[in-house]
Amino acid sequence: MALPGCFYFSFVVNALVVVALATSNVPHLTTNYYDDSCPNALITIKTVVQAAVQKEFRMGASLLRLHFLDCFHNGCDGSILLDSTSFIDSEKNAKAIQYARGFDIVDEIKEAVNEACGQSVVSCADILAVAARDSVVALGGPTWEVELGRRDSTTASPAASDANIASPFSNLSQLITNFKSHGLDEMDLVVLSGAHTIGYARCATFRDHVYNDSNIDPDFAQSELESICPIIGGDFNLAALDPTPANFDTSYFSNLVQNKGLLHSDQQLFSGASTDALVQQYSSDAVAFFEDFALSMIKMGSIQPLTGDQGEVRVNCTKVN
Ligand code: HEM
Ligand SMILES: *[C@@H]1O[C@H](CO)[C@@H](O)[C@H](O)[C@H]1NC(C)=O
Ligand SMILES: *[C@@H]1O[C@H](CO)[C@@H](O)[C@H](O)[C@H]1NC(C)=O
Ligand SMILES: *[C@@H]1O[C@H](CO)[C@@H](O)[C@H](O)[C@H]1NC(C)=O
Repeated sequence: MALPGCFYFSFVVNALVVVALATSNVPHLTTNYYDDSCPNALITIKTVVQAAVQKEFRMGASLLRLHFLDCFHNGCDGSILLDSTSFIDSEKNAKAIQYARGFDIVDEIKEAVNEACGQSVVSCADILAVAARDSVVALGGPTWEVELGRRDSTTASPAASDANIASPFSNLSQLITNFKSHGLDEMDLVVLSGAHTIGYARCATFRDHVYNDSNIDPDFAQSELESICPIIGGDFNLAALDPTPANFDTSYFSNLVQNKGLLHSDQQLFSGASTDALVQQYSSDAVAFFEDFALSMIKMGSIQPLTGDQGEVRVNCTKVN
């Protein structure tokens, strides 16, 4: 499905997601949060993201994934960005986060934004949310207005990361349960997995699927994947998560319909169960995919943020103030 990307740039999905906060005096996220304190914040982030993606398209995928990892670990609070110190046990050591990339670009963005604002007012958690949106747009996907006002955590906890971040070896019911534990439903699971329309995965994450699963196209497994991912060794070899890893498009879903998902967890979404119909729909309906993706990203970005006087705005994303 190759419609011109510019068609979708016109999509602006307004933030209609109402976040039900437990107490009404906790401040909500808002799209105009930095309008007074740093009017150039968003354009500054976009400029750095665009340059980084221009230089290496995979960086767009890596930045999108960082926001997901952050939100699924104790809420979108920038905790995954902290480096280890004698007080902090970095989440960068967690199994699920160990090989994530893009941390250097986040640091670059933070430096540029601090300078553009003349002070440190933009949180690292917000930078991740905006960089994720700008990355999707840079690779031809939909745009949306990012809700802002998250504050940064002063703690990290790698053990919790591994427990909270969905595994590529999970079956469908485990994936649904994992998303539910973060307040996301089955539809969010399917549409947000569509993020795998960009980027790559390491052999270690899909080897079992290639050699041990029956719901994988045998020709795809043998002629495309076995050489990249031998039974033994080559753990760090990369395969694209869909055939067009530089384009945010529907081919992730059309690929699943052909039993050509890369990860076991990807193919679980089209495996004869409750999510098949939605995968089938997105495989041929880019408008629905783009619209729903934008709404679910806003929902994911609203997972347990720190707001008001909770946490802090880190000066340097790698360490607490
Ligand atoms: C449904 C549960 C999910 C599982 C099990 C999962 C698992 C994975 C795994 C194993 C990789 C490869 C990592 C590596 O090789 O080190 C990956 C890559 C990626 N994931 Fe997911 N993921 C899930 C959901 C998401 C969501 C919700 C997003 C964003 C909204 C996302 C965005 C990405 C992106 C963009 C990449 C490519 C990163 C790159 O090339 O650097 N994933 N995912
Ligand atoms: C952030 O802190 C790290 C570790 O101390 C340092 O290497 C880096 O240069 C700092 N970044 C900025 C933008 O000051
Ligand atoms: C999914 O995996 C869990 C844990 O291994 C297992 O208990 C459950 O039966 C599996 N569900 C399905 C539908 O295969
Ligand atoms: C496949 O399954 C077998 C039997 O459960 C297991 O020993 C093996 O490690 C699995 N993975 C691969 C890549 O063969």
